[in-house]
Amino acid sequence: MNRCSVLVLAAGQGTRMRSRLPKVLHSLAGRPLLWHILQAVRGLHPERLAVVTGFGAEAVEHVLASPDIHWVRQYERKGTGHAVQCALPALHGLRGDLLILNGDHPLVTTAILDSLLQHHRSHGMPLTVLSMLVDNPSGYGRVMRDDAGRLLRIVEEKDASEEERAIREVNTGFYCLSLDRLSDWIGAIGNQNAQNEYYLTDIVPMAKAEGGVEVWMCPDAEGLAGVNDRAQLAELERVFRDRRIAEWMSRGVTFVDPSSCWVAADVQIGMDTVIESQVMLGPGTVVGEGCQIGPFCHIQESVIGPDCRILPFCHLEGTEVEAECTLGPYARLRPGVRLARKVRVGNFCEIKKSTIGAGSKISHLSYIGDAQVGSGVNVGAGTITCNYDGVHKHRTVIGDHVFVGSDVQFVAPVQVGPGATIGAGTTVTKDVPADSLAISRAHQTHVMNWAEKRKVRS
Ligand code: UD1
Ligand code: CA
Repeated sequence: MNRCSVLVLAAGQGTRMRSRLPKVLHSLAGRPLLWHILQAVRGLHPERLAVVTGFGAEAVEHVLASPDIHWVRQYERKGTGHAVQCALPALHGLRGDLLILNGDHPLVTTAILDSLLQHHRSHGMPLTVLSMLVDNPSGYGRVMRDDAGRLLRIVEEKDASEEERAIREVNTGFYCLSLDRLSDWIGAIGNQNAQNEYYLTDIVPMAKAEGGVEVWMCPDAEGLAGVNDRAQLAELERVFRDRRIAEWMSRGVTFVDPSSCWVAADVQIGMDTVIESQVMLGPGTVVGEGCQIGPFCHIQESVIGPDCRILPFCHLEGTEVEAECTLGPYARLRPGVRLARKVRVGNFCEIKKSTIGAGSKISHLSYIGDAQVGSGVNVGAGTITCNYDGVHKHRTVIGDHVFVGSDVQFVAPVQVGPGATIGAGTTVTKDVPADSLAISRAHQTHVMNWAEKRKVRS
């Protein structure tokens, strides 16, 4: 099969977003709008992938940097036709078909792009336009047809009459065309219109004069919607979420209350995992099979092994959790945490940059930072690693099978040998030998009849 090339237009500011950020860098499901389009395009394995940037070009090219992209700069934004003109040198020498895509339609899929390409090839016209039927056409160019249903031209909203504005078939801004006609057509576009812009849509009458234009009206209007303002962005976020969660359910994941959950575009979830209400799974999250994620958990940049139970209100970021761990409710795991199998972290525990060995338990009200905790360790309630002296961070190392009583402080740097016991209330300031008991407590004294004496005094 002969390959195609792809040109994505992403130089616009997105004035209607009212933002300092270029529109294509606004986030949908945790990834930039343009990232979504590029993912769909890559499924086609194009011969060349060129992207036109302009407003915020450095930022766009930095965030989406990739060796397969041919970046093109459009220094002045004079319209979509001008954007394509700027890209002509980058397309020079290529043959066959070119897909031109607006950079602000993030839900498009490889399947839709492939259908557009197939449609173009099977009809043999020099230009194919992808249109859709929408309830609210405002903001889009309207597709004008003659009485026989043949495409006449595309009219931008700002140039349209009252009557033309009522048309609900609109231009998606996605086209497929023969590369050998492109530069002639682009060179003939003028800017006599309401916006004084060079409209790419003006190639329609030119292609008509040279053999005809095919219109493919894609039935999936929801999947082809564009983002011009923040209300449309929120709507697409919802559509994406509903579609993605439906996909995970079809692959054997239970969502108890799908519409209350948020799942980033790149999340992976194993079969038979149950996700309860109000859960957020942010970018970079992988959840294994057979897990249970309780209500109100927020997890990102984390890998959760199989058969873990994460009870309500846990917050995990940058962590690695092996199989069969139990977390929460109200556990907070910060970046750099690794939990081995069957670890239990209970309520109101915060762990940062630490590894915890298999089967260890940190069940209540603890802070563990910059620590290496062995396996089979029991950390009592209220234990704290004092890891920061005001200038530097220091490590606490606790060997296997250590028993730490309640309310212990480890003043780091400090090491505890395997099998040691730390008595409740101890402030550990020296290394503890293996199998010993460490205890630092003031002796308890009793003042007899204290209550009576106090009464007399007052
Ligand atoms: C464009 C189409 C309209 C279509 C709509 C679909 C034209 C003239 N109009 O209108 O028919 O219904 O898209 O969303 O093409 N861009 C550049 N350089 C520019 C201007 C725009 O790269 O100088 C890029 C933008 O970043 C954006 C895309 O082209 O990704 C579309 O631009 P936008 O200004 O949103 O065009 P619309 O007015 O929506
Ligand atoms: Ca647009």
